[in-house]
Amino acid sequence: MPTATLREYQPKDLPDLYDVCVRTGDSGEDATGKYERPELLGDIYVGPYVHFEPELAFVLDSGERAVGYVLGTADTQGFVRRYREEWLPRFSGRYPGPPTAPVTGDDRLLDVFYHPERMLRPETAGYPAHLHIDILPPYQGTGNGRRLMEAFLDAAAAAGAGAVHLGVSLTNIRAQGFYRRLGFHEIEVAGVGRALVLGRATAR
Ligand SMILES: CC(C)(COP(=O)(O)OP(=O)(O)OC[C@H]1O[C@@H](n2cnc3c(N)ncnc32)[C@H](O)[C@@H]1OP(=O)(O)O)[C@@H](O)C(=O)NCCC(=O)NCCS
Repeated sequence: MPTATLREYQPKDLPDLYDVCVRTGDSGEDATGKYERPELLGDIYVGPYVHFEPELAFVLDSGERAVGYVLGTADTQGFVRRYREEWLPRFSGRYPGPPTAPVTGDDRLLDVFYHPERMLRPETAGYPAHLHIDILPPYQGTGNGRRLMEAFLDAAAAAGAGAVHLGVSLTNIRAQGFYRRLGFHEIEVAGVGRALVLGRATAR
């Protein structure tokens, strides 16, 4: 099994993180070839987090590159505001506008990209932090996910968040098992479609 060390995120990691995001972006499986604009995945699920809260981002370093990450925000409400006011304007003209009726996978990504306010749900108000975690397959299953998660929980607690939530695809059974093993429980949230919302306290 290849090994990797955990360290804080550095700006030079950004292309690797976008790559990991695509290679785990289809409910935990490789999304290569699935989207016409695969960089949109990173512009939604990686870029804004490391831009606004790099102190909450940690990577697994193989010695050659970043092969996994955890990242997120300690304050989902503040994150959504900054995403709307500072992140979206950086992309004006780079992507088509929000689709009126999303049909393709790319449409659905654009729909998510342009509507950050959907992250604000009354049911998760008591779980102010949220996160994303992804690891390339050769580095999965040997404790790296737990180490990344513990680093995030400690950093989010230090940033003042008492609890964290996340979304996981209904079809991503493996990740659901991982999260439950790490103490996450289901939060009943209306209207999230083919996903589950899970949460836990950041204290451990
Ligand atoms: C989900 C993911 C982050 C988990 O990381 P990992 O390195 O594979 O998990 P670990 O080896 O650190 O497992 C941590 C613990 O969870 C347990 N675990 C992992 N998967 C499990 C499962 N499916 N069911 C039950 N327990 C599980 C492990 O046995 C381990 O238990 P222990 O620490 O008490 O001994 C990783 O597999 C991954 O990146 N998958 C692809 C991308 C993805 O799905 N991301 C989540 C999107 S929501």
